[in-house]
Amino acid sequence: MKISTAFFALVPLVAALPPVFRAVDVTNSTSVISPDTQGNVFVCTDAGFTGSCQVFSSSGQCVNFPSSFNDDITSVGPDSGQDCFFWNDINCSGAELGPLRSPGTSDLNVAATVQFNDHLSSFQ
Ligand SMILES: *[C@@H]1O[C@H](CO)[C@@H](O)[C@H](O)[C@H]1NC(C)=O
Ligand SMILES: *[C@@H]1O[C@H](CO)[C@@H](O)[C@H](O)[C@H]1NC(C)=O
Repeated sequence: MKISTAFFALVPLVAALPPVFRAVDVTNSTSVISPDTQGNVFVCTDAGFTGSCQVFSSSGQCVNFPSSFNDDITSVGPDSGQDCFFWNDINCSGAELGPLRSPGTSDLNVAATVQFNDHLSSFQ
């Protein structure tokens, strides 16, 4: 509801602009909305996307993992076509892992990423 209200509120402004400015795809609702609807990451507490698993969504903002996943994640799978960053502390602070792209990593418990295994607390 909020998105469509904002979108239609912009239409008169866009229509008032000279055609050359309209070429910037502001009227293309697919490209305007899709970045906000694809911020999903699939995480699991064990390697190989096993154990307890859940999909979390971020519309570009920082998301803290709930206590059931905090400091317990071993495999992470971002949606395709986006860069996903993870942090060892809440509010996207502390040691940073990323950018990770699809298919992500099925086991953080390897030398290159062991500092993040069972340590992730937030993502964006
Ligand atoms: C809207 O943008 C998307 C993604 O950039 C593109 O694939 C699609 O063809 C565009 N549609 C129109 C009508 O311009
Ligand atoms: C995390 O962010 C929230 C909301 O901005 C804030 O209230 C909280 O104090 C922050 N916590 C830490 C540890 O940074």
